[in-house]
Amino acid sequence: MPSWMHNPKQGVIEAKAALLTQISDSAVRMAWLQEWLMDEVAVVKAEGAAAVPQITFRDLQLEAISTTQKDRIRRRGCVVIRGVFDRQQAMAWNDEISRYIDENHYYEKAKDKVGLDRYFSTLAAGRPQIFGLYWSRPQMQARQHENMSAVRGWLNHLWNFTGPDGLQEFDPDRQCNYADRVRRREPGDKSLGLSAHCDGGSIERWCDASFHRVYHEVFFGDVDAYDPFNAVGRTQTEEIPSPAVCSVFRTFQGWTALTRQGPGDGTLKIIPIARAMAWMLLRALQPDVAPDDLCGAAAGRALAANPTWHQLLLEAEVSIPIVEPGDTVWWHPDVIHAVEGEHRGHNYSNVIYIGAAPWCEKNARFLPRQAERFLAGKSSPDFAAEDYEVDFINRATLDDLSALGKKQWGLLPW
Ligand SMILES: [Fe+2]
Repeated sequence: MPSWMHNPKQGVIEAKAALLTQISDSAVRMAWLQEWLMDEVAVVKAEGAAAVPQITFRDLQLEAISTTQKDRIRRRGCVVIRGVFDRQQAMAWNDEISRYIDENHYYEKAKDKVGLDRYFSTLAAGRPQIFGLYWSRPQMQARQHENMSAVRGWLNHLWNFTGPDGLQEFDPDRQCNYADRVRRREPGDKSLGLSAHCDGGSIERWCDASFHRVYHEVFFGDVDAYDPFNAVGRTQTEEIPSPAVCSVFRTFQGWTALTRQGPGDGTLKIIPIARAMAWMLLRALQPDVAPDDLCGAAAGRALAANPTWHQLLLEAEVSIPIVEPGDTVWWHPDVIHAVEGEHRGHNYSNVIYIGAAPWCEKNARFLPRQAERFLAGKSSPDFAAEDYEVDFINRATLDDLSALGKKQWGLLPW
């Protein structure tokens, strides 16, 4: 662990002072970014929900996605990919997860484990909406499905993964699986809202040298040349260990819809501006922000976009369009997103969280730890050790994995 992490408060003060010494034109950079962001926000507001690009899995398979569409996805940092799974298949998975929960008495068991999950700790009082389930058959089948593999490979290729030295930051054509959970949100639920944030590190982005490499252009180079899809340094960042960070590098976070859901159904909102992080980084270095403050960024928490400092950006928040069972939603790891505070719809809004984690050293290192948990039915090593599934019936086992699945879990060499 880098030394500054032992005293994050002091780390912020020192990092800010050092950055401001190094960046002599911080005000000029900010002025440029401010003007750029105002334009982007205006475009997004004019487009509304249409600002989130949408493509079909069929077009993706036919290689019929144009360069213009790809550029737009890179600019917006998000995409809805429709029809990745057959609708009936997704609905059957939804039913099977429901049975898995019921026949294994998840709700009764959850009462004994209240408080173990610190990320969604507000859930403690009510019925769970996020389930500490990692190894149900539907999750395993969706993760190793060849359509999912095609989608993730395609998404990985949206990145520039080869550095100036010719070395690949990751391999877009080999993938790792990452065991995340399921969301089953009931109508009327008010417990699950998450305000605008991005995952994967907060103050680290300013304080740690590994992030300075990722954001080199923003801090020290040509701000306009900053490309969030340039992978250089992305798999080597050092985060403060916490439940708010993911141990693997993902080119996109994402989920697969198991039920129809749209605006108002307690689902995802997104700020579809991939380069917004550049503005957030420079904003925190301006003279109206105290020397020990980074616009409210808190160590070990998700990085929040808040009304005090980021109101301009928050104005570009849009709901994702209505999605159907089998559709998937993807967003760049730096993209600010939120979960609606209340589910005002009439049906469950259910998803399986499945992101895109390409093969790289960082991800490969994580796989053996994760595989061990899978084989024992324990919780994923990245989440609270609730270990619900150790004695669950109908849990997926090694026999449920395809050859591709075994490779993606690190249980078979590529
Ligand atoms: Fe998030």
